[in-house]
Amino acid sequence: MWQYYDCGVKLLSFSLQSINLGWLWSQCRRQLLPERFNLQISETIDFSNGDSSVSLPGPSLCVEVGVGSGAVLTFLGGIIGSSAHYIGTDISRHAAVAARSTGQHNNILIDTVQTDLVTALLPRCSGCVDVMLFNPPYVVTPSEEISQGGIAATWAGGVNGREVTDRLLPLVSRLLSPSGRFYLLLLEENQPGDVHQILSDTGLSGEEVIRRRSGPENLSVWCYKRK
Ligand SMILES: C[S@@+](CC[C@H](N)C(=O)[O-])C[C@H]1O[C@@H](n2cnc3c(N)ncnc32)[C@H](O)[C@@H]1O
Repeated sequence: MWQYYDCGVKLLSFSLQSINLGWLWSQCRRQLLPERFNLQISETIDFSNGDSSVSLPGPSLCVEVGVGSGAVLTFLGGIIGSSAHYIGTDISRHAAVAARSTGQHNNILIDTVQTDLVTALLPRCSGCVDVMLFNPPYVVTPSEEISQGGIAATWAGGVNGREVTDRLLPLVSRLLSPSGRFYLLLLEENQPGDVHQILSDTGLSGEEVIRRRSGPENLSVWCYKRK
């Protein structure tokens, strides 16, 4: 059921200071990944406050919560390079194994851990995460569907599609480094304004960085950092 993806990272060689990440990731997505993959997050990663170039100093810690196939984190690894440490978490053991394989297949070292959200990273990684990504299970479903396990974990978000996301939100500011960024993908039904308020109350400021329609889904990606 789980596959790794050959993301063609080795084919792409760019200067770290001048990458247009939006372009790069949209190329990767168009050529190499199934259209249904929700890679909007990866199309928007930008650590530079607007000039679309990367300026991530020194070794860094990048964490993807709910890493799934590992395709997104692998792309990030292809861009930032081997100076960073990549960790993917997932509730699913299959996903943790697949993500590691996807990284290996593309020469990106990804450490994966089967854990609920970021439980295994706390408290040790507090204040240390430079880039944190989350493409949550965001579909509005009955709450019971979340605990069904199996493939339902990839989509079932419970009430407002927010039940899983809401458990992560209070932990984000604990994990982020002083200049860390948190990228979160949301569906319109997830009430992004409400999420924004919750994160703001924990000392983070953020903005919507992209909005896309994907079939019936109105999706947006938000980027947060410390105020
Ligand atoms: C929408 S998929 C995103 C997969 C991948 N990150 C991507 O963008 O293609 C959500 C992922 O979150 C994982 N997940 C769901 N609940 C989780 C939890 N409580 N803790 C960790 N991972 C979880 C699922 O197994 C799934 O891999």
